[in-house]
This record gives sequence, C-alpha cells and structure tokens, in this order.
Amino acid sequence: MTPEEFRQAGHALIDWIADYRTRIPELPVGAQVQPGEVRAALGVDPPVGVEPFDALLADLDRIIVPGVTLTQHPRFFGWFPSNATLSSVLGDIASSGIAALGITWQSAPALTELEEACCEWLRELCGLSPQWRGSIHDTASTAALVAMLCARERASDHAQTRGGLRDVAPLAVYASPHAHSSVTKAALLAGFGQHHLRFVEVDPVTYALRADALAAAMERDVAAGLRPAAIVASVGTTGTNAFDPLPELVELARRHGAWLHVDAAMAGAAMLLEEQRWRFEGIDGADSISWNPHKWMGTILDCSLFYVRDPQHLIRVMSTNPSDLRSAVDDEVTQLKDWGVPLGRRFRALKIWFQLRLDGLESIKARLRRDLANAQWLAEQVEATPGWRVLAPVQLQTVCLRHEPEGMGADELDAHTQRWAGSLNASGRAFVTPSLLDGRWMVRVSVGAEHTEADDVAAGWEAIRAAATASC
Ligand SMILES: Cc1ncc(COP(=O)(O)O)c(C=O)c1O
Repeated sequence: MTPEEFRQAGHALIDWIADYRTRIPELPVGAQVQPGEVRAALGVDPPVGVEPFDALLADLDRIIVPGVTLTQHPRFFGWFPSNATLSSVLGDIASSGIAALGITWQSAPALTELEEACCEWLRELCGLSPQWRGSIHDTASTAALVAMLCARERASDHAQTRGGLRDVAPLAVYASPHAHSSVTKAALLAGFGQHHLRFVEVDPVTYALRADALAAAMERDVAAGLRPAAIVASVGTTGTNAFDPLPELVELARRHGAWLHVDAAMAGAAMLLEEQRWRFEGIDGADSISWNPHKWMGTILDCSLFYVRDPQHLIRVMSTNPSDLRSAVDDEVTQLKDWGVPLGRRFRALKIWFQLRLDGLESIKARLRRDLANAQWLAEQVEATPGWRVLAPVQLQTVCLRHEPEGMGADELDAHTQRWAGSLNASGRAFVTPSLLDGRWMVRVSVGAEHTEADDVAAGWEAIRAAATASC
C-alpha cells in the first residue's frame, strides 16, 4: 500500500469509525453472535487476493461489529469501564503510523521520554509523591507479575543470581480473596506456589481485607519458617470496589520486610479527584502501584501504569545487557527494556498525551464525578424498591445488587439472578455482570462508560427491573 492509497483508505476508515461511534447507542450492547458464528462468516479459505477497501469496511459491519460487546455503549454496565476516548484512539493511530521500534532509548528517544513524562504527569495529577518512577505496561496483569518478581527477588536476596528459589526458605504472598485473578496468576507464575499463597479474611460488610487477620497469618507463617515476601493490596476490588486498608498493610509489610504491591487497576483513576484521595491514604508507603488509564480514565487499551519506589531494584531484576543493545549514553538515559518483561514496546504514551491534550483534565474529572453521582443515584433507587437489595457499600461507581422476591430459597434465587441477568444481556438493552459474592449470585452494575449519562442509568435500571420481573 502506498502512502497515497493509505490516505484514501485511512480517510474512509476514520469516517467509518466516526459513524460507528455515532450509531453505537442504537446497537445492541452485548455481542449478538453464537459460538463459531464469526469464524463461519470469515470463510474457510485464507484471503490471498487483493480486495477493495470497501469490501473490508463492509465486513467490519457485517461480521465484526455484531461479534463485539460494545463497551463504548452508554448502557454498558458490564465488568468495568473499558473506555476508549476518540482522542486516545487518535494517539493509538499516531503510534501505529509512526511505527517506532521501542527497544532501547536510542531506537526511539521520543518514545522513552514521552513515556517518562506521561508517567510523571499522571503521578503528579494523582497526588502521588515524587518518589515514584513509572513506566507503561500493557495490562495490570503484567504489572502484577513484574511486582511479584520484584518481591520474590527482594525476599530471596536475588536468588535468581544463584540457584533460584530452591535455595530459599518458602516465600509467602498475601492478598484478599477478592483480589483480581491476575494476582493469583502473577504469584503462581512468579513461582511462589499455590501452597504459599494466602487469601486473608475480609470484613463481612466492607469486603476489605482485615489487617488483624493478615497480621495473624504473617505471624503464623514466620513461626512455621516461611518468609512473608509480598502483600497485594486491592484498592478497588473488581467485585465490589472494596479498599483494603493501606496504612495497616504498609505497617505490616514494613514489619516483615515484605513487598507491598497496590493493585488499583480500575479505581486508580479516582486519584485524579482530590476529594477521593482519602481512600488511597497510605499508598505512598507501598513498593509498587499499578492502575489502568485504559479503564475508567478512558485511554484506549492497552495502557497500564506501573510505579515503583526503587527503580534500581526493578532494573536489577529485569535487566539484560546484550552487546547489540548497548549505547554510549546508557548511563544518562532510561532503558525501558530493563523495566519489564518485553524488549520491544509500543509507543503507548502517545495515547495518554493525545487524550490529555485534546480532552483536557477537567473534562475527565467531570466525567468521573458524574459516574460517582450516577452510581449513588442507582443505589438509592435499588434500596428504595421493595424486593431489591444493595449488597456492598457503593465506594465508587459499582453497584452490587440482587432482586430477592419473597419466598425464594437460596438456590432458586441463584437461578433467578443468573436467568434475568442472562436475558437482559441477550436482549441488548443493557449489559451487566452476574458474579458470586459470599458464594451467592448477584449482579454488578458498573457505571462509567464514557457516554453513560443519568438518563442511561435510569434506562438501565428500568431494563434491569423488567428482566427480573419477567424471570419470576
Ligand atoms: C482490580 C483489578 N486488577 C486487575 C485487573 C486486570 O486488568 P488488566 O486487564 O489490565 O490485566 C482488573 C480488571 O478486571 C481489575 O479490576
């Protein structure tokens, strides 16, 4: 494809994206396909001939869009906000167009230095202290893995440089049972072993990890000859947005020399709001923090910030130094390849840069505040409606609810909840997430898609009630 051909197709694609984004509110929210349907529509034979661009665009409409749950839909209340502001989409396109090879500072100095600047700006905008140094990962899952590797190496006095974990006393990791599954994955991949992963009791009302239970678990392990290596604080759990108590966790981590990683993947965006920062009190005492602009803040996937207090330790764990990647300025620059797992990195900072410059911080903050108010409104409606219950404190923008018709036993209620949530999602009117809380099914309504206004929350609530009534 020549640049001229690209120009023509590119204009058509931008038009297509703008039209698609405009008509999203009229489309069903959930993906409208059965398993295998997309694969069948793609055809059996590989596309080997040259086709006109229009044919591809037509297939986006015919095959791809129906096969996607529309997270940009104003009545998307599923999993968590996965916002993709068009300003950040432009940054993503610029990143692809520039096609920088991000392997060393020299391969793309602008990539490294814009990434450093964006991490620094967002640190400041979140009210985090200047001690933090950041980089951008693809996801919070990767950030958690890197944190666990750092924790393992610190607790083992860099066993990677000797015989690895076989020479070390068993290392234990502690987290809330409500921690995201990526935390378990990270701890297992880092080699701690299932037997040394402790899920500590939570408060039955707030679902926050109980510091006294954590203290007892750590003491027990120390007495049994284990070494507490890491605590993962979930700051805004996926299920209920519970906030583990950071000041107490900082104290316990210090007492035992354990690494404290803060997973604030979804909730971290709330640090942009001065009035929400009290929820994060103590965070500056952690060893690492991750939060995802690619969730509520609205930078298109993938864009996860990872901050560490001691970059030298991170570099010691992560760095390699092959001769072909060395340069004369290595002592003066940041080599981001030594800050994580991959060598080559995308120019992700462009997405943040575009979003901040084109949308402006104030509009982002106003949107977050709008979502907080809308979630409170929804919780009030649920509480005020007979037969409905809010199951966890509404800390941010997630409302956990259940329809509990009189006389239904627990198993019947579970079946009812899954049935109405499933039928609502299949209807395309709104999209919610059924999930387990205390072993029973409930529904999470995660408010915070970019275009979800108060009217959409009201429409979603009406659709929820209609689906639940129809399922009785
Ligand atoms: C609290 C929390 N941590 C981690 C993750 C994983 O995020 P990512 O997809 O960026 O790995 C999520 C997303 O669901 C989350 O809510």
